[in-house]
Amino acid sequence: MRLIILLGLFVVSCTAKTVRQDRRFPDDFIFGTATASYQIEGGWEADGKGENIWDYMTHNKPEVIKDMTNGDIAADTYNNYKRDVEMMRELGLDAYRFSLSWARLLPDGFTNNVNEAGVTFYNNYIDEMIKYNIQPMVTLYHWDLPQKLQELGGFVNPLFTDWFEDYARLAFERFGDRVKFWITFNEPREICYEGYGAATKAPILNATAVGTYLCAKNLVIAHAKAYHAYVKDFKPNQNGQCGITISVNWFGPATDSEEDHIMAELRRQAEWGLYAEPIFSQQGGFPKELSERVAEKSAKQGYASSRMPSFTDEERDLVRGSFDFFGVNHYTAFLASAAKEHKTYYPVPSLYDDSDSSTYTPDDWPKSASGWLKLAPNSIFDAFTFLRNKYGDIDFYVTENGWSTSPTAGLIDDDRVRYYRAALNSLLDAREAGVNIKGYMAWSLMDNFEWMEGITERFGLYEVDFEDPARSRTPRKSAFVYKHIIKNRYIDS
Ligand code: NOJ
Repeated sequence: MRLIILLGLFVVSCTAKTVRQDRRFPDDFIFGTATASYQIEGGWEADGKGENIWDYMTHNKPEVIKDMTNGDIAADTYNNYKRDVEMMRELGLDAYRFSLSWARLLPDGFTNNVNEAGVTFYNNYIDEMIKYNIQPMVTLYHWDLPQKLQELGGFVNPLFTDWFEDYARLAFERFGDRVKFWITFNEPREICYEGYGAATKAPILNATAVGTYLCAKNLVIAHAKAYHAYVKDFKPNQNGQCGITISVNWFGPATDSEEDHIMAELRRQAEWGLYAEPIFSQQGGFPKELSERVAEKSAKQGYASSRMPSFTDEERDLVRGSFDFFGVNHYTAFLASAAKEHKTYYPVPSLYDDSDSSTYTPDDWPKSASGWLKLAPNSIFDAFTFLRNKYGDIDFYVTENGWSTSPTAGLIDDDRVRYYRAALNSLLDAREAGVNIKGYMAWSLMDNFEWMEGITERFGLYEVDFEDPARSRTPRKSAFVYKHIIKNRYIDS
């Protein structure tokens, strides 16, 4: 008996030694997965849901989607939500990030017409998670604006800020007793630049640089109004937190030259500083160098004022500091160069005000099925240490990170496993350097509608069979690996 105990202790101590302490995740680290309403729910007109900008665009211009698919059914979570929660349990998730469909709750966008069937759907979904101790993390807006609000101008109408606050208040009222983690917007850059500047996402408007900046200003003000509504009227009883999620891919200099360093910084400011700076910086407002550059270029183009709007003192103060945490969607990195001979391909060539630089990625970085997504070395470390140095010692969450494979790649997704392991190691490096990253959401729980790419790119830990009317779900190898990491809270690298 004694011998067996001694042997047991020996094995345990050897195992403990092989796990480097810094490769461990603390017990309170939150592991989860993420999805978004339009990408998974389906039920596009079920039980009183209103039309949103993706319904409108995919029905009226189906050719803009690579394979002409749409989100009418998607992964049919509207009818499969119990299976989704079962998958969360299979993985052993601490939390699940998903978004509310504004038009499912408010068919015309306004709170005078609430679709109670939509409220019931989310109540059921949330209750099912709570039943199994999975913390719901709710994104209020993940790109599916009610079409009726788009017809009123959408994000470029300054009234948007009030529409959004009203919607947020409704969500806090109806779900805030159980939801303690709120994200106002997912990826402002993709909403503003791609939706209103470059026409590469709904509502596919191409208002050159003006649309992007008008949207950016209204978006951060809308975020701040929702945040302050939460803090003042809900947080005292509900005790939750409210933040925003911004896409922060890393942009480093291609060489050590001063010009490349300047280009990398301008890129960072244009890609995500535009949205992060007003909220997280001490001084507030849009990023300095970018603002100066846009003003300069506007003058050269013969405009009497800059195409980039400014904030009044009151607006600046409202937005500055309006967060409990910083949610970061991080996928990859790019190199920025002042030399124009590199072929810029990220992700659309016509960048706002930055025609004299290029970004690229080295050929030897492993490629995913998405043109923009490669496995970059230690990019989580680079991005998060930069953010911490810039914005201070605040709470961070990785609210998305993931890898795409082709529809025929199957269940043995070793490249996705390699990506997740590299990402989590990089995250631990950042934590070791003192960055307070408190959680990690893998994108995605399951295959879903990948926006303009339709279902030609698959991001799921679970494969979804889109040919099957029931949309059956099967775990990939990466699901088992992620489950193992969550259970043991370390990576044995
Ligand atoms: C970020 C977006 O939030 C999500 O909707 C998208 O599917 C992933 N990136 C992958 O492209």
